[in-house]
Amino acid sequence: MTKATPSPDDARSLSSSKRSYPLIRAVVAQIAAAVIVIGGQQILGNRADLVLPLPLLLAFQGVIAAGLGHLLGLARWWLPINLLLPAAAALALLLNLPAWIYPLLFLALALVFWNSADDRVPLYLTNRKTWQALEALLGAEAQRSKEPLKVSDIGCGLGGALLYLARRYPQAEFVGIESAPLPYALARLRALVSGAPNLEIRYGDLWKQDLSVFDLVYCFLSPEPMPRLFEKAKREMGSGTLLISNSFEVPGVTADEVVTVQDSRETELLVYRL
Ligand SMILES: C[S@@+](CC[C@H](N)C(=O)[O-])C[C@H]1O[C@@H](n2cnc3c(N)ncnc32)[C@H](O)[C@@H]1O
Repeated sequence: MTKATPSPDDARSLSSSKRSYPLIRAVVAQIAAAVIVIGGQQILGNRADLVLPLPLLLAFQGVIAAGLGHLLGLARWWLPINLLLPAAAALALLLNLPAWIYPLLFLALALVFWNSADDRVPLYLTNRKTWQALEALLGAEAQRSKEPLKVSDIGCGLGGALLYLARRYPQAEFVGIESAPLPYALARLRALVSGAPNLEIRYGDLWKQDLSVFDLVYCFLSPEPMPRLFEKAKREMGSGTLLISNSFEVPGVTADEVVTVQDSRETELLVYRL
């Protein structure tokens, strides 16, 4: 198995090229789509006296915005947002919702998707079958190690993976790190309610976390942070420890093991032994 290390320059250029404000690109896509749809309707109205129904215009705007967003380099998860946004906005206007709903909704979304705009890591969750695959990997690792394992999920979301594992490995220690306020609060609450003495949920930025104390670090982030994260893990974690990434590989580095989970998306766990 060959291992190559991405140079810091590779990592930096990847980061800077991709770090160009997806929110602004999404807004540009919506505005351009609105101009095209309104312009198109004007032309149809003038030349053929044809007025398209509003739902059709909104659907056109969504499809065009999604396509433009894709051309502008937005990640795939922006597609449904761009697609549905015009119809959702029109529905909200039709329903005449009270004005305070909008800032409240915005606040709730901001508290959940705290890291999406900057770190390009939204919230999506590890599924149960992947928890089970992690359980097996952890079991194998626990057998190799003489000491109880210290495990972290960096960017732990709602803490589901760690709750599951902490119950099954009472002798190991688990630390979840999360910087989005709402998921952090929920994960913390779930850990408290579970009463698991070997699970700690910390509020904080994973980049400021010292990884040297962990034998196994699990992450489910996005392609963007992987080169930098691998560098950090190599620098801080001990020799022979594990970095396991759900779905996102480290560019230029061959994983030591790839576990394919039997779920609908055939999730891959990429195991890097440091
Ligand atoms: C895709 S979710 C995965 C959640 C959880 N690990 C799981 O597998 O169910 C990624 C999580 O990482 C968090 N995150 C992103 N950047 C972070 C950072 N710099 N520090 C801490 N958490 C971060 C996000 O808020 C999000 O909850």
